[in-house]
Amino acid sequence: MKYTSILTCLLGCVSLGYAQNKMPQAEEKKMQVFISNLMGKMTVDEKIGQLNLPSVGFDVTGPILSQGVDEKIEKGLVGGVFNTYTPQAVRKLQDIAVKQSRLKIPLLFGYDVVHGHKTIFPIPLGLSCTWDMSLIEKSARIAAKEASADGLSWTFSPMVDITRDPRWGRMSEGSGEDPYLGSLIAKAMVKGYQTNSLTRKDAILACVKHFALYGAAESGRDYNTTDMSLNRMYNEYLPPYRAAVNAGVASVMSSFNDINGVPATANKWLLTDVLRKQWGFSGFVVSDYTGINELVPHGLGNLQQVSVLALKAGVDMDMVGEGFLTTLKQSLNEKKISIADIDRACRRILEAKYKLGLFSDPYKYINEQRAATEILTPQNRADARMIAERSLVLLKNDKQVLPLKKSARIALIGPLADNRRDMIGNWSAAGDWQKAVSILEGLKNVAPQLDITYAKGANLVDDPLILKQINHNGADIVPDKRSPEELIRDAVSATKKADVAVVVLGESALMGGEATSRTSLDLLPNQKELLKAVTATGKPVVLVLMNSRPLTLEWEDANVSAILETWFAGTEAGNAIANVLTGNYNPSGKLTATFPHNVGQIPIYYNHKNTGRPYSGDLMDKYKSRYIDSPNEPLYPFGYGLSYTTFIYSPVTLSAATLTGTQTLQASVTVTNTGNFDGEEVVQLYIRDMVGSITRPVKELKGFEKIFLKKGESRKVTFNISVNDLKFYNNSLNYVAEPGDFKIFIGTNSRDVQEASFTLK
Ligand code: NOJ
Repeated sequence: MKYTSILTCLLGCVSLGYAQNKMPQAEEKKMQVFISNLMGKMTVDEKIGQLNLPSVGFDVTGPILSQGVDEKIEKGLVGGVFNTYTPQAVRKLQDIAVKQSRLKIPLLFGYDVVHGHKTIFPIPLGLSCTWDMSLIEKSARIAAKEASADGLSWTFSPMVDITRDPRWGRMSEGSGEDPYLGSLIAKAMVKGYQTNSLTRKDAILACVKHFALYGAAESGRDYNTTDMSLNRMYNEYLPPYRAAVNAGVASVMSSFNDINGVPATANKWLLTDVLRKQWGFSGFVVSDYTGINELVPHGLGNLQQVSVLALKAGVDMDMVGEGFLTTLKQSLNEKKISIADIDRACRRILEAKYKLGLFSDPYKYINEQRAATEILTPQNRADARMIAERSLVLLKNDKQVLPLKKSARIALIGPLADNRRDMIGNWSAAGDWQKAVSILEGLKNVAPQLDITYAKGANLVDDPLILKQINHNGADIVPDKRSPEELIRDAVSATKKADVAVVVLGESALMGGEATSRTSLDLLPNQKELLKAVTATGKPVVLVLMNSRPLTLEWEDANVSAILETWFAGTEAGNAIANVLTGNYNPSGKLTATFPHNVGQIPIYYNHKNTGRPYSGDLMDKYKSRYIDSPNEPLYPFGYGLSYTTFIYSPVTLSAATLTGTQTLQASVTVTNTGNFDGEEVVQLYIRDMVGSITRPVKELKGFEKIFLKKGESRKVTFNISVNDLKFYNNSLNYVAEPGDFKIFIGTNSRDVQEASFTLK
């Protein structure tokens, strides 16, 4: 599968061309007539009611709870609810709306279906490491089928925030650091959720979030400020949101953060000028959880004032905070807003309901039969397993310690080895961890002949402060009665009797996700002690990692034999990981976020600028952009990931030395599988613009192709490069390609590449 040049459509302002789910004109007209008629009958209170989105039901995903929701629905004061699912629970509320409220307007039912509904896929950061758009789309499709069978009509996904700071716990929810890859993934997910027709029973509204720049929170501290040049925004951070809009996403969630002095939720430039006027977005904007109320501590005024600011900026729906519900009428009476401001928002929400077909059938998503037969099916689980296998990234494999030998005696060690609770990761929606497969179970399932001794070795979290917080949020970690020394002793003794130790360590799932920023990205000290003790036995050690963000693994990289990054791989985690450990599947995942040596290097990302004093590696060269106590280079670069086989790349050949006008240039390499396993490889294309009117990154991903090669097989891979692939936003925010010299890099990751050069005339 090849991805190049789709870029133009995703990133560029020129070819906004297609938008999915655009209605034919006659249909559009019919909808507008219907909605105008309906709005003609609505009171101001009922119109404001449509802008209200309380949380009620099974989950708490924010700091306060909505009250009196049933009564408000009955009075027509609710447009939708979230955190309620199952046909029974949804029917109960929809009944109130369509049987007891005056105008019988159906409700939307939203939920954070972020990486699967009940069949849980790898966390989004893991999913992105598949570099496989059809599989990512498939995961969203399955999620939408299950969610829609369980009463839901709207998911708060995809999260497409570009992230370069692994201290931020929400890195797990997105696709890493690259705008090009992030844009393709945004598009795939929107397509998977919405399909080409929202009237389908198994299509739901997608919601791209968090608009915008939430991933750039200062210091990696959640909800923190962002301050960014337009140039960086347009070239690096905004493309994935725009790709979602171009793909027809039905809704957008405004983010919590401040952007250059105006929080996103009150930012008219962002929500109206950029989103609607520049990008042509025609769906509705929902605030994040109490995002409007939070404009008060941001310092923009009292609740009435900030509700006016948010509505006028372009927020249509108020999540939980009821600033709209409780103040907009007064603001209307005081002429601080006009009825047109309320009508505009109300219309957009009614349009979404109409497009889903809820006015014709408010019970469209309520079907007990579907709920009983379409959720967590064997097929969905098989797909989840297959996708999870492809999301695992092999970071190190000395002396081919992996795959495990069939006859090996294995010491399986660690608090995440015999653990179902954490496999489904954070934001795992309605996922039931008890349905998940642990690694111990997975190894027994896929390789029953293996001789395995299990030892826990350490508590997952010993640090009392962290433990208290994550347990408060539902981690359910009960510290082992044995002392840390005793736990380690057992693990060491199991290792001594084994041929190889497989040590499964990392974070608790709830150390990732919202409000989980960390200042250290090392393994927790008690886990590190265990690893050191096991390694000291001299036996080969395979470290299997589970974590929500890149960790700092300098010691581990230097001291263990093999490292397999598995993120949180979902319901089928154990089977997928076992298949990779035993060689039933040869790993092919590639990192989508840089792994630093240390926290001091953060933010760290491959597509950085060169500076005026770039460092060449000479320690005695003082006046260079560098550290005196750390390399500049990361531990594992973007795009990195090993296979059990080896791939050799030929030099790059170009079809011409120059590119002009509407031509395309072909850049080719031949890749040969020179090892002992069949396997998949992601061949990556990067380009550098050598001279520009503004400084340009040292490298930017512009294409990739995932290929399968049998051992001994070779394949020529050709990328077509056109002027559109060379475009960027200049300082006047024009999307241009500037004539001059370019470098092309093709390789197995962003560091290990072959180069060639050409000139754009
Ligand atoms: C807050 C989170 O920031 C957002 O991602 C989520 O969709 C909402 N809560 C709803 O749960």
